[in-house]
Amino acid sequence: MSHFRYWSKLAVGVSMLAFPALASEPTVPPEPAEFKAQAPITYVPRDSILEFKSLPEYHEPEWVTEKFVKTGGLPSVKDRLPKKPLVFKTGNMPDGIGVYGDTLRHVIGGRPEGWNYSAGQSQGWGGIDIAMSECLTRTAPLFQVEAKDIEPLPNLAKAWEWSADGHKLTMHLIEGAKWSDGDAFDADDVMFFWEDNVLDPNVSPLNGATQESFGPGTTLTKIDAYTVEWTFKEAFPRQYLYAMAYGTFCPGPSHILKTKHPKYAQTTYDQYKNGFPPEYMNIPVMGAWVPVEYRPDDIIVLRRNPYYWKVDEDGNQLPYINELHYKLSTWGDRDVQAVAGSGDFSNLEQPENFVESLKRAAQDNAPARLAFGPRLIGYNLYMNFSGNGWGQPDARGQAIRELNRNEHFRKAVTMAIDRKRLSESLVKGPFTAIYPGGISSGTSFYDRQSTVYYPFDLEGAKAEVANAGLKDTDGNGIVNFPADKAGGKDVEITLLVNNGYNTDKNLAEGVIGQLEKLGLRVIINALDSNQRDAANYGGRFDWMIMRHHAELASVVQNTEQLAPTGPRTSWHHRAPEGGQLDLMPFEQQLVDVVNKFISSQDKDERAELMKQYQKIYTANVNTIGLTEYSGALIINKRFSNIPSGAPIFMFNWAEDTIIRERVFVKADKQGDYELFPEQLPGKPGGNGPMN
Ligand code: GLA
Repeated sequence: MSHFRYWSKLAVGVSMLAFPALASEPTVPPEPAEFKAQAPITYVPRDSILEFKSLPEYHEPEWVTEKFVKTGGLPSVKDRLPKKPLVFKTGNMPDGIGVYGDTLRHVIGGRPEGWNYSAGQSQGWGGIDIAMSECLTRTAPLFQVEAKDIEPLPNLAKAWEWSADGHKLTMHLIEGAKWSDGDAFDADDVMFFWEDNVLDPNVSPLNGATQESFGPGTTLTKIDAYTVEWTFKEAFPRQYLYAMAYGTFCPGPSHILKTKHPKYAQTTYDQYKNGFPPEYMNIPVMGAWVPVEYRPDDIIVLRRNPYYWKVDEDGNQLPYINELHYKLSTWGDRDVQAVAGSGDFSNLEQPENFVESLKRAAQDNAPARLAFGPRLIGYNLYMNFSGNGWGQPDARGQAIRELNRNEHFRKAVTMAIDRKRLSESLVKGPFTAIYPGGISSGTSFYDRQSTVYYPFDLEGAKAEVANAGLKDTDGNGIVNFPADKAGGKDVEITLLVNNGYNTDKNLAEGVIGQLEKLGLRVIINALDSNQRDAANYGGRFDWMIMRHHAELASVVQNTEQLAPTGPRTSWHHRAPEGGQLDLMPFEQQLVDVVNKFISSQDKDERAELMKQYQKIYTANVNTIGLTEYSGALIINKRFSNIPSGAPIFMFNWAEDTIIRERVFVKADKQGDYELFPEQLPGKPGGNGPMN
């Protein structure tokens, strides 16, 4: 098929966007362009994906038996597996039982801080931490589960039951599973993660797990080696099963981490966090692959975990793929390499790359397939709402916080944004939609009629700026603070963005240009992702443009982050160190609605609550929505078992959604990419793999 035909097929169903006449009257957002290029999803019952049971026999790659088991280097596969491993059912595998071999070559723009996920270190993203981590439950594959029985899937917790009053949840952990170095996984690992990381005020795990992620006052206790018990203030808060999935309940190897934790060793918290730098190889994992090689700004290589506790129905120990590559490059290069075939995987999420990637993927000899999903990628401008000291602003910063908390000011900013122009500066065509902020239009909870949109209206915006008390007193085109605020100087606002993504920078530049016409001077502060996160969590920003997280793309994942339900749950309003949240009345309403949603068991009530949430959020301009679009999954054609319609982002990123441990390459399609063939991870902290 020529790319022109492909392109016109894609364009079928694109209706001309009808824009309402300019008016400051709030309305609903315009109907987005119809976008038909989405791959179909086959919905399945929840229990058709996996189960826990023992099988008559188990298998592993032949070289593992020959080189490692027969020489006495490793116990037999049967003895490395739990009595009842996690078994993926063949019926749910798009191409069935796989074969061993080959490499999945990722490219990322992030860089590893180190391996201590439990203490908040980033591994560079792009699914590297997801490959290494296993969590109590798993949600990413739920994209294909029939709505009527959606509930997180078992994982490290193989089963659970609620007490009659709904306040206690007993979880049964997988029995006899081992870390990649052979150490037993048990309730002590779970308790170490909870007590000495989540609850320890000096530690902040990656992805922000706090006690509130599981409900205020929630406790967790060990019953025996393979049983833990949760106690909740609410009855039946099933919602927290989502928080037990990636990324908020993925325990680390306590036998290794304890050697550097101040409670168990003569160390500081800083030494704990930084005790496992990127050079530290073979950190034990429960995930399918273990890091065995790190070359700065070049590559991270992971090899198969010989103790992995998941199998297929024939008893083949997973993963099928022997090696993962993480080339340390840029996010834009990930798209380029995936369509060119020198990389294997990309979440096509930067619209600037859409057209080129589509053209290339439409060619007959294209090495990769490309499939769009629902519109679940969105960008917001987040204003820092803390008026009482989060991030310790100076006088200017404090004056900005007060503006951020002023409804007229927020309306002025949102009305001054021409979202159509902003989106078209990224990509032309049916991809993007007008996004006023709030819940993604791609989720089942979205309700357009409950979404308040302030259309582009520069004159109206100027009136609102004046209502906010700002006036250009010195005639230089920039409005001034009132005389008693920040010395009556020009209003200057810093805008925090992640410099790893062109989209983030392009949106920031567009916003800066458009707001100049409103008399606001906005100055970009572009940081790399690790520093950006630190500035965000530390509250050191006036405004921030950020791709939204799972709470807005799924509602049920990271739900507590939908509002400042606790001192450290919101992206743009947290309590200052040791202080309280200073919620505005509409934020208190959001918090109340979200808390009701979390404790509600009733489907209709939950849908209704999210309509209320969306209305309060968008009417009060909780964030300034910028643009929304769907992304496409790009995967090299040699891979099998990629589920159709897997969104690049919903409950989690596609790296988890496609269930990489089940992905395989048919024997006649296997490439010769393994850098460490027939080798396995070596000793924790030791120098690379073992052969
Ligand atoms: C980054 C990338 C995403 C995804 C995630 C996984 O954020 O931009 O596409 O790969 O990492 O954590």
